[in-house]
Amino acid sequence: MAVSERGQVAAFGVMEVMRAAEEREAAGHEVLHLEVGQPATSAPGGALRAAEAALRSDRLGYTTALGITPLRNRISQWYADEYRLDVPADRVVVTTGASGSCVLAFLALWNPGDRVGVLEPGYPCYRNDLRTFGIEPVAIAVGSGSNFRPTIAQLEAALPLDGLVIASPSNPTGTVLYHDDLAAVLSWADRNGVSVVADEIYHGCTYDRPAPSALGLAPSGGDVVVMNSFSKYFSMTGWRLGWIVAPEALVTPLERLSQNLTIAPPTLSQIAGLAAFDCKDQLEANVEQYRTNRQILLEGLPTAGIDRLAPPDGAFYVWADVSHLTEDSRALCARWLDELGIAVTPGIDFDPQRGHHFVRFSYARSADDMQRAMERLAGWTP
Ligand SMILES: Cc1ncc(COP(=O)(O)O)c(C=O)c1O
Repeated sequence: MAVSERGQVAAFGVMEVMRAAEEREAAGHEVLHLEVGQPATSAPGGALRAAEAALRSDRLGYTTALGITPLRNRISQWYADEYRLDVPADRVVVTTGASGSCVLAFLALWNPGDRVGVLEPGYPCYRNDLRTFGIEPVAIAVGSGSNFRPTIAQLEAALPLDGLVIASPSNPTGTVLYHDDLAAVLSWADRNGVSVVADEIYHGCTYDRPAPSALGLAPSGGDVVVMNSFSKYFSMTGWRLGWIVAPEALVTPLERLSQNLTIAPPTLSQIAGLAAFDCKDQLEANVEQYRTNRQILLEGLPTAGIDRLAPPDGAFYVWADVSHLTEDSRALCARWLDELGIAVTPGIDFDPQRGHHFVRFSYARSADDMQRAMERLAGWTP
């Protein structure tokens, strides 16, 4: 059977590392998981209880494409509580996770042939999704010289651009765009007619200062598309739920795309997601766990001779330069899995140009796993 060009999209590489790790486990070997970009915890208790109750009492039919009103209102309230921002609920679009948000936002904003800047290293699905839609991803290479944040000179060099995707905190680097850097990027985009999608999926998972939202810093008062998700801070990856805050003019296009592509986000997840906002104690305890794990890696990796690390301001990743150990991070990760039973993600997926010299450690699992992984790495001879 013929397969379309779109169907030949690149694989999401981290899923392949997860599969190799699972195969090793199935063969009876222990694996310490530092590859997986998801919390080890379940959804918070309140979300689980709300879902249980809804299973018994609710028909769980379709909702409207924009999502249930109480959830849209609660998300609006969250911006008021957490950021002191006035985000009207009618600008909130509930989605099937940030992945679903990418599909909707990219389709609503850009035409085939448009040029959209993506940072490298960066989340690989932006590039792959854009290509799938016939939009040209334009790589903007960021590095240790600017602490993995884009400089205005780098953005200028990528022009002409129709759009730009940024993520703060970033996957894989963990780097946050703090107030001045984020404001500078947004006003540069505004001056140049570049529409910005800001992925804020790791908001809440920060260890020094909170990450500012692009919603409060866009010069034209909201001309930026912000994505967030229940997958990370809310610890609900498998529930497939997220949201977009869109400029008013984009809400109807997003609604129509959502109606046609998926009808609506999952009803049970929306009910659980609404309750998750009231579980802050449990969610903050998860963040404290990441903070402990992060410290174990920040001490353990240099002891193992891996000391060129991106500033891990947020998310639950450490992006490490391993060029002194390998010319091929995929081969290095295969050896670590084989010889140490540690699963780590090679950088190549996040940065096709320089990723063979980098790996991403995820610290979302238990402190004990992190400690043991660091001990194994320290005892490893290249
Ligand atoms: C930066 C970034 N954006 C989006 C996603 C997709 O997340 P979701 O589970 O909300 O679809 C991920 C998942 O790891 C991510 O790291």
